[in-house]
Amino acid sequence: MPLEIPGATHLHSGKVRDLYTYGDHLLMVASDRVSAYDFILEPGIPDKGEILTRMSLWWFDQLADLVPHHVVSTDVPAEVAGRALVVERLDMFPVECVARGYLTGSGLIDYRETGAVCGIPLPDGLVDGSRLDAPIFTPATKADLGEHDENVSFEAIVETVGVEMAERLRDLTLAVYGRAEEIARERGIILADTKLEFGARPDGTIVLADEVLTPDSSRFWPADRYVPGQAQPSYDKQFVRDWLTSAESGWDRASDTPPPRLPDEIVERTRERYIEAYERLTGLTW
Ligand SMILES: Nc1ncnc2c1ncn2[C@@H]1O[C@H](COP(=O)(O)OP(=O)(O)OP(=O)(O)O)[C@@H](O)[C@H]1O
Ligand SMILES: [Mg+2]
Repeated sequence: MPLEIPGATHLHSGKVRDLYTYGDHLLMVASDRVSAYDFILEPGIPDKGEILTRMSLWWFDQLADLVPHHVVSTDVPAEVAGRALVVERLDMFPVECVARGYLTGSGLIDYRETGAVCGIPLPDGLVDGSRLDAPIFTPATKADLGEHDENVSFEAIVETVGVEMAERLRDLTLAVYGRAEEIARERGIILADTKLEFGARPDGTIVLADEVLTPDSSRFWPADRYVPGQAQPSYDKQFVRDWLTSAESGWDRASDTPPPRLPDEIVERTRERYIEAYERLTGLTW
């Protein structure tokens, strides 16, 4: 249930974050909730909301010369200190702007079925984790709560937002990916793919919104363990997913029963993994 926050009115809750109106602005609150296989798990991961908020802020700063961002202030009510941002209220484009430099996840599934991702043909013989010759823009449309986002073609985005805007969103997405991929690579981390959301100010300016380049919105892989042709270890819910699908958890993913409670050890290792990603990427100490 969303928190009672003085001065804020609850607007929307996703799996992990809660959005409030806050004066003329919005308050974007990152919780410690963690989701996997479309379930919100118990318990949360201590400090996750704050780690991801700090990471997102750091990235907005790294990208500021490429695109303006929506953050107005980090001065937030005490109830959500450290894990909330005051942001501009934008008119959001109904597009999940995804850039991929490596083939995996839903991109790999599409490629195996069609030889293409979002209508972009790729060479034969690629495997899970293959590096693409050049990063590609693979937009998706946002699904309703409980549904999966759907990969769509560039033409579908043109139909929704017009050709000029579709091209700008694509170019910005690839520019952000390019910058972030380079920064991550220097720090020994592969940015396999990332999902961005943009909105417009009343004057039409395109602004980078939502959270950016966190382990919830992106795939980060330790470069020294990269072996194409298999699932890569990653800086996110790896331990959670591995444990849930192991015999130890006793959970049957094919059933509709919710997963069991995460053991303390899995929670702690997941927390350490988020902190490691934060520290490696930003060079800051948690
Ligand atoms: N500056 C902004 N102005 C208006 N809306 C924004 C802004 N930044 C982000 N949003 C929107 O806020 C919402 C954040 O919700 P959140 O990501 O928590 O849930 P969700 O996308 O509905 O579900 P999911 O849990 O699947 O991500 C999204 O709908 C996003 O588009
Ligand atoms: Mg979302």
